[in-house]
Order: sequence, then structure tokens, then C-alpha cells
Amino acid sequence: MTKDGKVKAALIGFGGMGHCHAGQYAAQKNIQLAALCDISPEALARPIGASEADAALYQAVAKTHCFEELLETQKDLDYLDICLPTNLHAEYAIRAMKAGLHVLCEKPMALNTADCDRMIAVSKETGRFLMVAQCIRFCAPYLHIRDLIANHAYGKLLSMSMQRNNQLPPGWFRDVARSGGAMMDLHLHDIDFVQFALGMPEAIYSIGVTAGSGGIDDCTTIYYYPNDLKVVTSGGWTHTRFSSALSAVFERSNFELTGDQLVRCYKDEPQETIAFPEGTPNMYFREIEYFGECILQGKRPEVASMESTRNSILLIEKELESIRQGRQVRL
Ligand SMILES: NC(=O)c1ccc[n+]([C@@H]2O[C@H](COP(=O)([O-])OP(=O)(O)OC[C@H]3O[C@@H](n4cnc5c(N)ncnc54)[C@H](O)[C@@H]3O)[C@@H](O)[C@H]2O)c1
Repeated sequence: MTKDGKVKAALIGFGGMGHCHAGQYAAQKNIQLAALCDISPEALARPIGASEADAALYQAVAKTHCFEELLETQKDLDYLDICLPTNLHAEYAIRAMKAGLHVLCEKPMALNTADCDRMIAVSKETGRFLMVAQCIRFCAPYLHIRDLIANHAYGKLLSMSMQRNNQLPPGWFRDVARSGGAMMDLHLHDIDFVQFALGMPEAIYSIGVTAGSGGIDDCTTIYYYPNDLKVVTSGGWTHTRFSSALSAVFERSNFELTGDQLVRCYKDEPQETIAFPEGTPNMYFREIEYFGECILQGKRPEVASMESTRNSILLIEKELESIRQGRQVRL
């Protein structure tokens, strides 16, 4: 904790996502980013963002290339924000928790459920919190859809489909042993939202293709729920640009989310754009703010509990099993 009662954080992995996270800290009221760690001098030399507040924060934070040095020199840290390549998530989360730090870890939690289970066990042993930054759980339009599913405001959900596409990313992402391929890196966002909104399905059927990482880089999956509800997700790294979409069909309205624009349509009624209050924080700001609140209140994070984010990794394993076996897999 800082002297003025703020939660004190350090961030490791100051690449693309590390810069995105770091850019959320200047405006956090209850959290102070105290240190940055990256093995790459070039990454560490790149300032946080463009604003004066970001520049001041970048000047103020300690910077190191060495994780051990970070732990030795930053004795009063509360948590480590992990934005490392995916194959390092489990190792660094476990090291940090054993060193007494709570952990906010970028998605995917880990490359397999065995590693997720080790992370959960260490979190329980040490009493340190572990939250995976499944950002869509903090994204206003997706939360709106989740609420409609729960409160039946427009009747029962009849079907839902989600898409998420991108081009093949460079570097370590192309190595399935480090990134898990498109299923872990991209498709996971949709899988995680499906089970966040609807719970675990009874069965899944998935088809996929390999196109660059050595893993499955594009897939389409059907999730089977009780009462004949079916949800479809599709997408991967076989496209030319990023796009995301969700379509939810309720008894008395359809909701279409394209990027961050959510509209409601129903029969011949005029289309309604769903507006969110001005100042609604972006999902990355909100997930970090929420983790800080959990630490201050001494409450384990429930919005992205470690058990539920682990279940999203289990669903990927089941999808891969379904693709390999060419058949439906029951859970
Ligand atoms: N939530 C999202 O929407 C989202 C978006 C992109 C990436 N991610 C996730 O964020 C994670 C990081 O992805 P990225 O795009 O930032 O990758 P990146 O390659 O841009 O950044 C990774 C950084 O980690 C550093 N690094 C590697 N090994 C290290 C070590 N042992 N110690 C210290 N630093 C080390 C690298 O030098 C690099 O700067 C991945 O797990 C990815 O899946 C999430």
C-alpha cells in the first residue's frame, strides 16, 4: 500500500498489452502504478501514452529488466499486473503469489487447465487473489446483453452468435506453444462471454483449420444448452483486419453488436441505438479499477473468478477435442 492508502501495483511485460494497461493507471483513484518490468530495453524505453498525466507517470515509475530485482526493491507492492506472453502467465503468477503479491493476469489464464489448476491452488494456499483480465466481462455493451439474458426484459434468449476475426499476428503469437494459437488468443474472448452469460454448456461441436501458428487458427463452434438453446461462435486469424460482432435473438427483440455499437431491432419498429452514460469507463480501465477495489475491500474478485476463467480454458480443450475427433463432445 502507498502512504496515502492506495493499492500499489507493478506491471510486467511492457509490450502491446502492457502499454494498454499502463495507460489506464494515471486516472485510477485508488491505485498507484509504482514499477514497470520488461526484459526488452526497447519496450521499457517506450513512454506510456500521449497525455501529460501518462508522461508524468512514466517518469515516476521505477523501471527494471529483472523480475527478481523488482521483488527485492519494491517491498510494499500489493499486486503484479502480468502482461507477458501467454506461456509465461502460470509461472509468473505463481512466483508473484508465492512472493506475497496479488495477481491480475492478462487472458488467457494459461495454456491448459493443468496450469490453471496450479495457479488456483497457489492462490488458495497463499491467500493471494488471482484475477484474469477477461476484459469483455467489463465491457458495457456485452454486460447489457448479459443482463437482458438474465432479466428476460425482451423474453427468453432464442439464439446467439458471435464472431471475432483478425489477421495473423506477428512474432511469438505464431508459435502455438507460446500463444495457444487463435483459439486461446482471440476466440477465447467469445467463449468466455458465452459461459459468463449462460454458464457451462451441456455439449459442444467444433470445426477448425490450421493456418499459421501450428494450432487451430480459425474455428466455428456450437454450444448446446438446455431447452434447445444453441449458441454459435466463429472466427480466427485467417482474416485481413480486426472485427467483432454479436447477434442475440430474444422473443421480443434482436440485439446486434458491431464493434462497440449496440442496436435493438424488432419487427417494423424503428431501430434503437443503445446509449451508455457519458463517462462509462473503458473495459481495461474498469477491470483494473475493480481489481483494486477487491484488494481494498479484502474480497476475492467475483466478476472474473479464477474458477470461471479456468472453465473457459476447459472449453477450449473440449473444442480442440471435438475438432480432433470430428464429433460432438459432452461436458
Ligand atoms: N485483453 C486483450 O484484449 C488482449 C489483447 C492483446 C493481447 N492480450 C494478451 O496479453 C498478453 C501479452 O500480449 P502482447 O500483445 O502485449 O505481447 P507483446 O509481445 O507485445 O508484449 C509482451 C512483452 O513481454 C516482454 N517479456 C517477455 N518475456 C519477459 C520476461 N520473462 N520478463 C519480462 N518481460 C518479458 C516482452 O519483451 C514484451 O515487451 C498475451 O497473453 C495476450 O494474449 C490480451
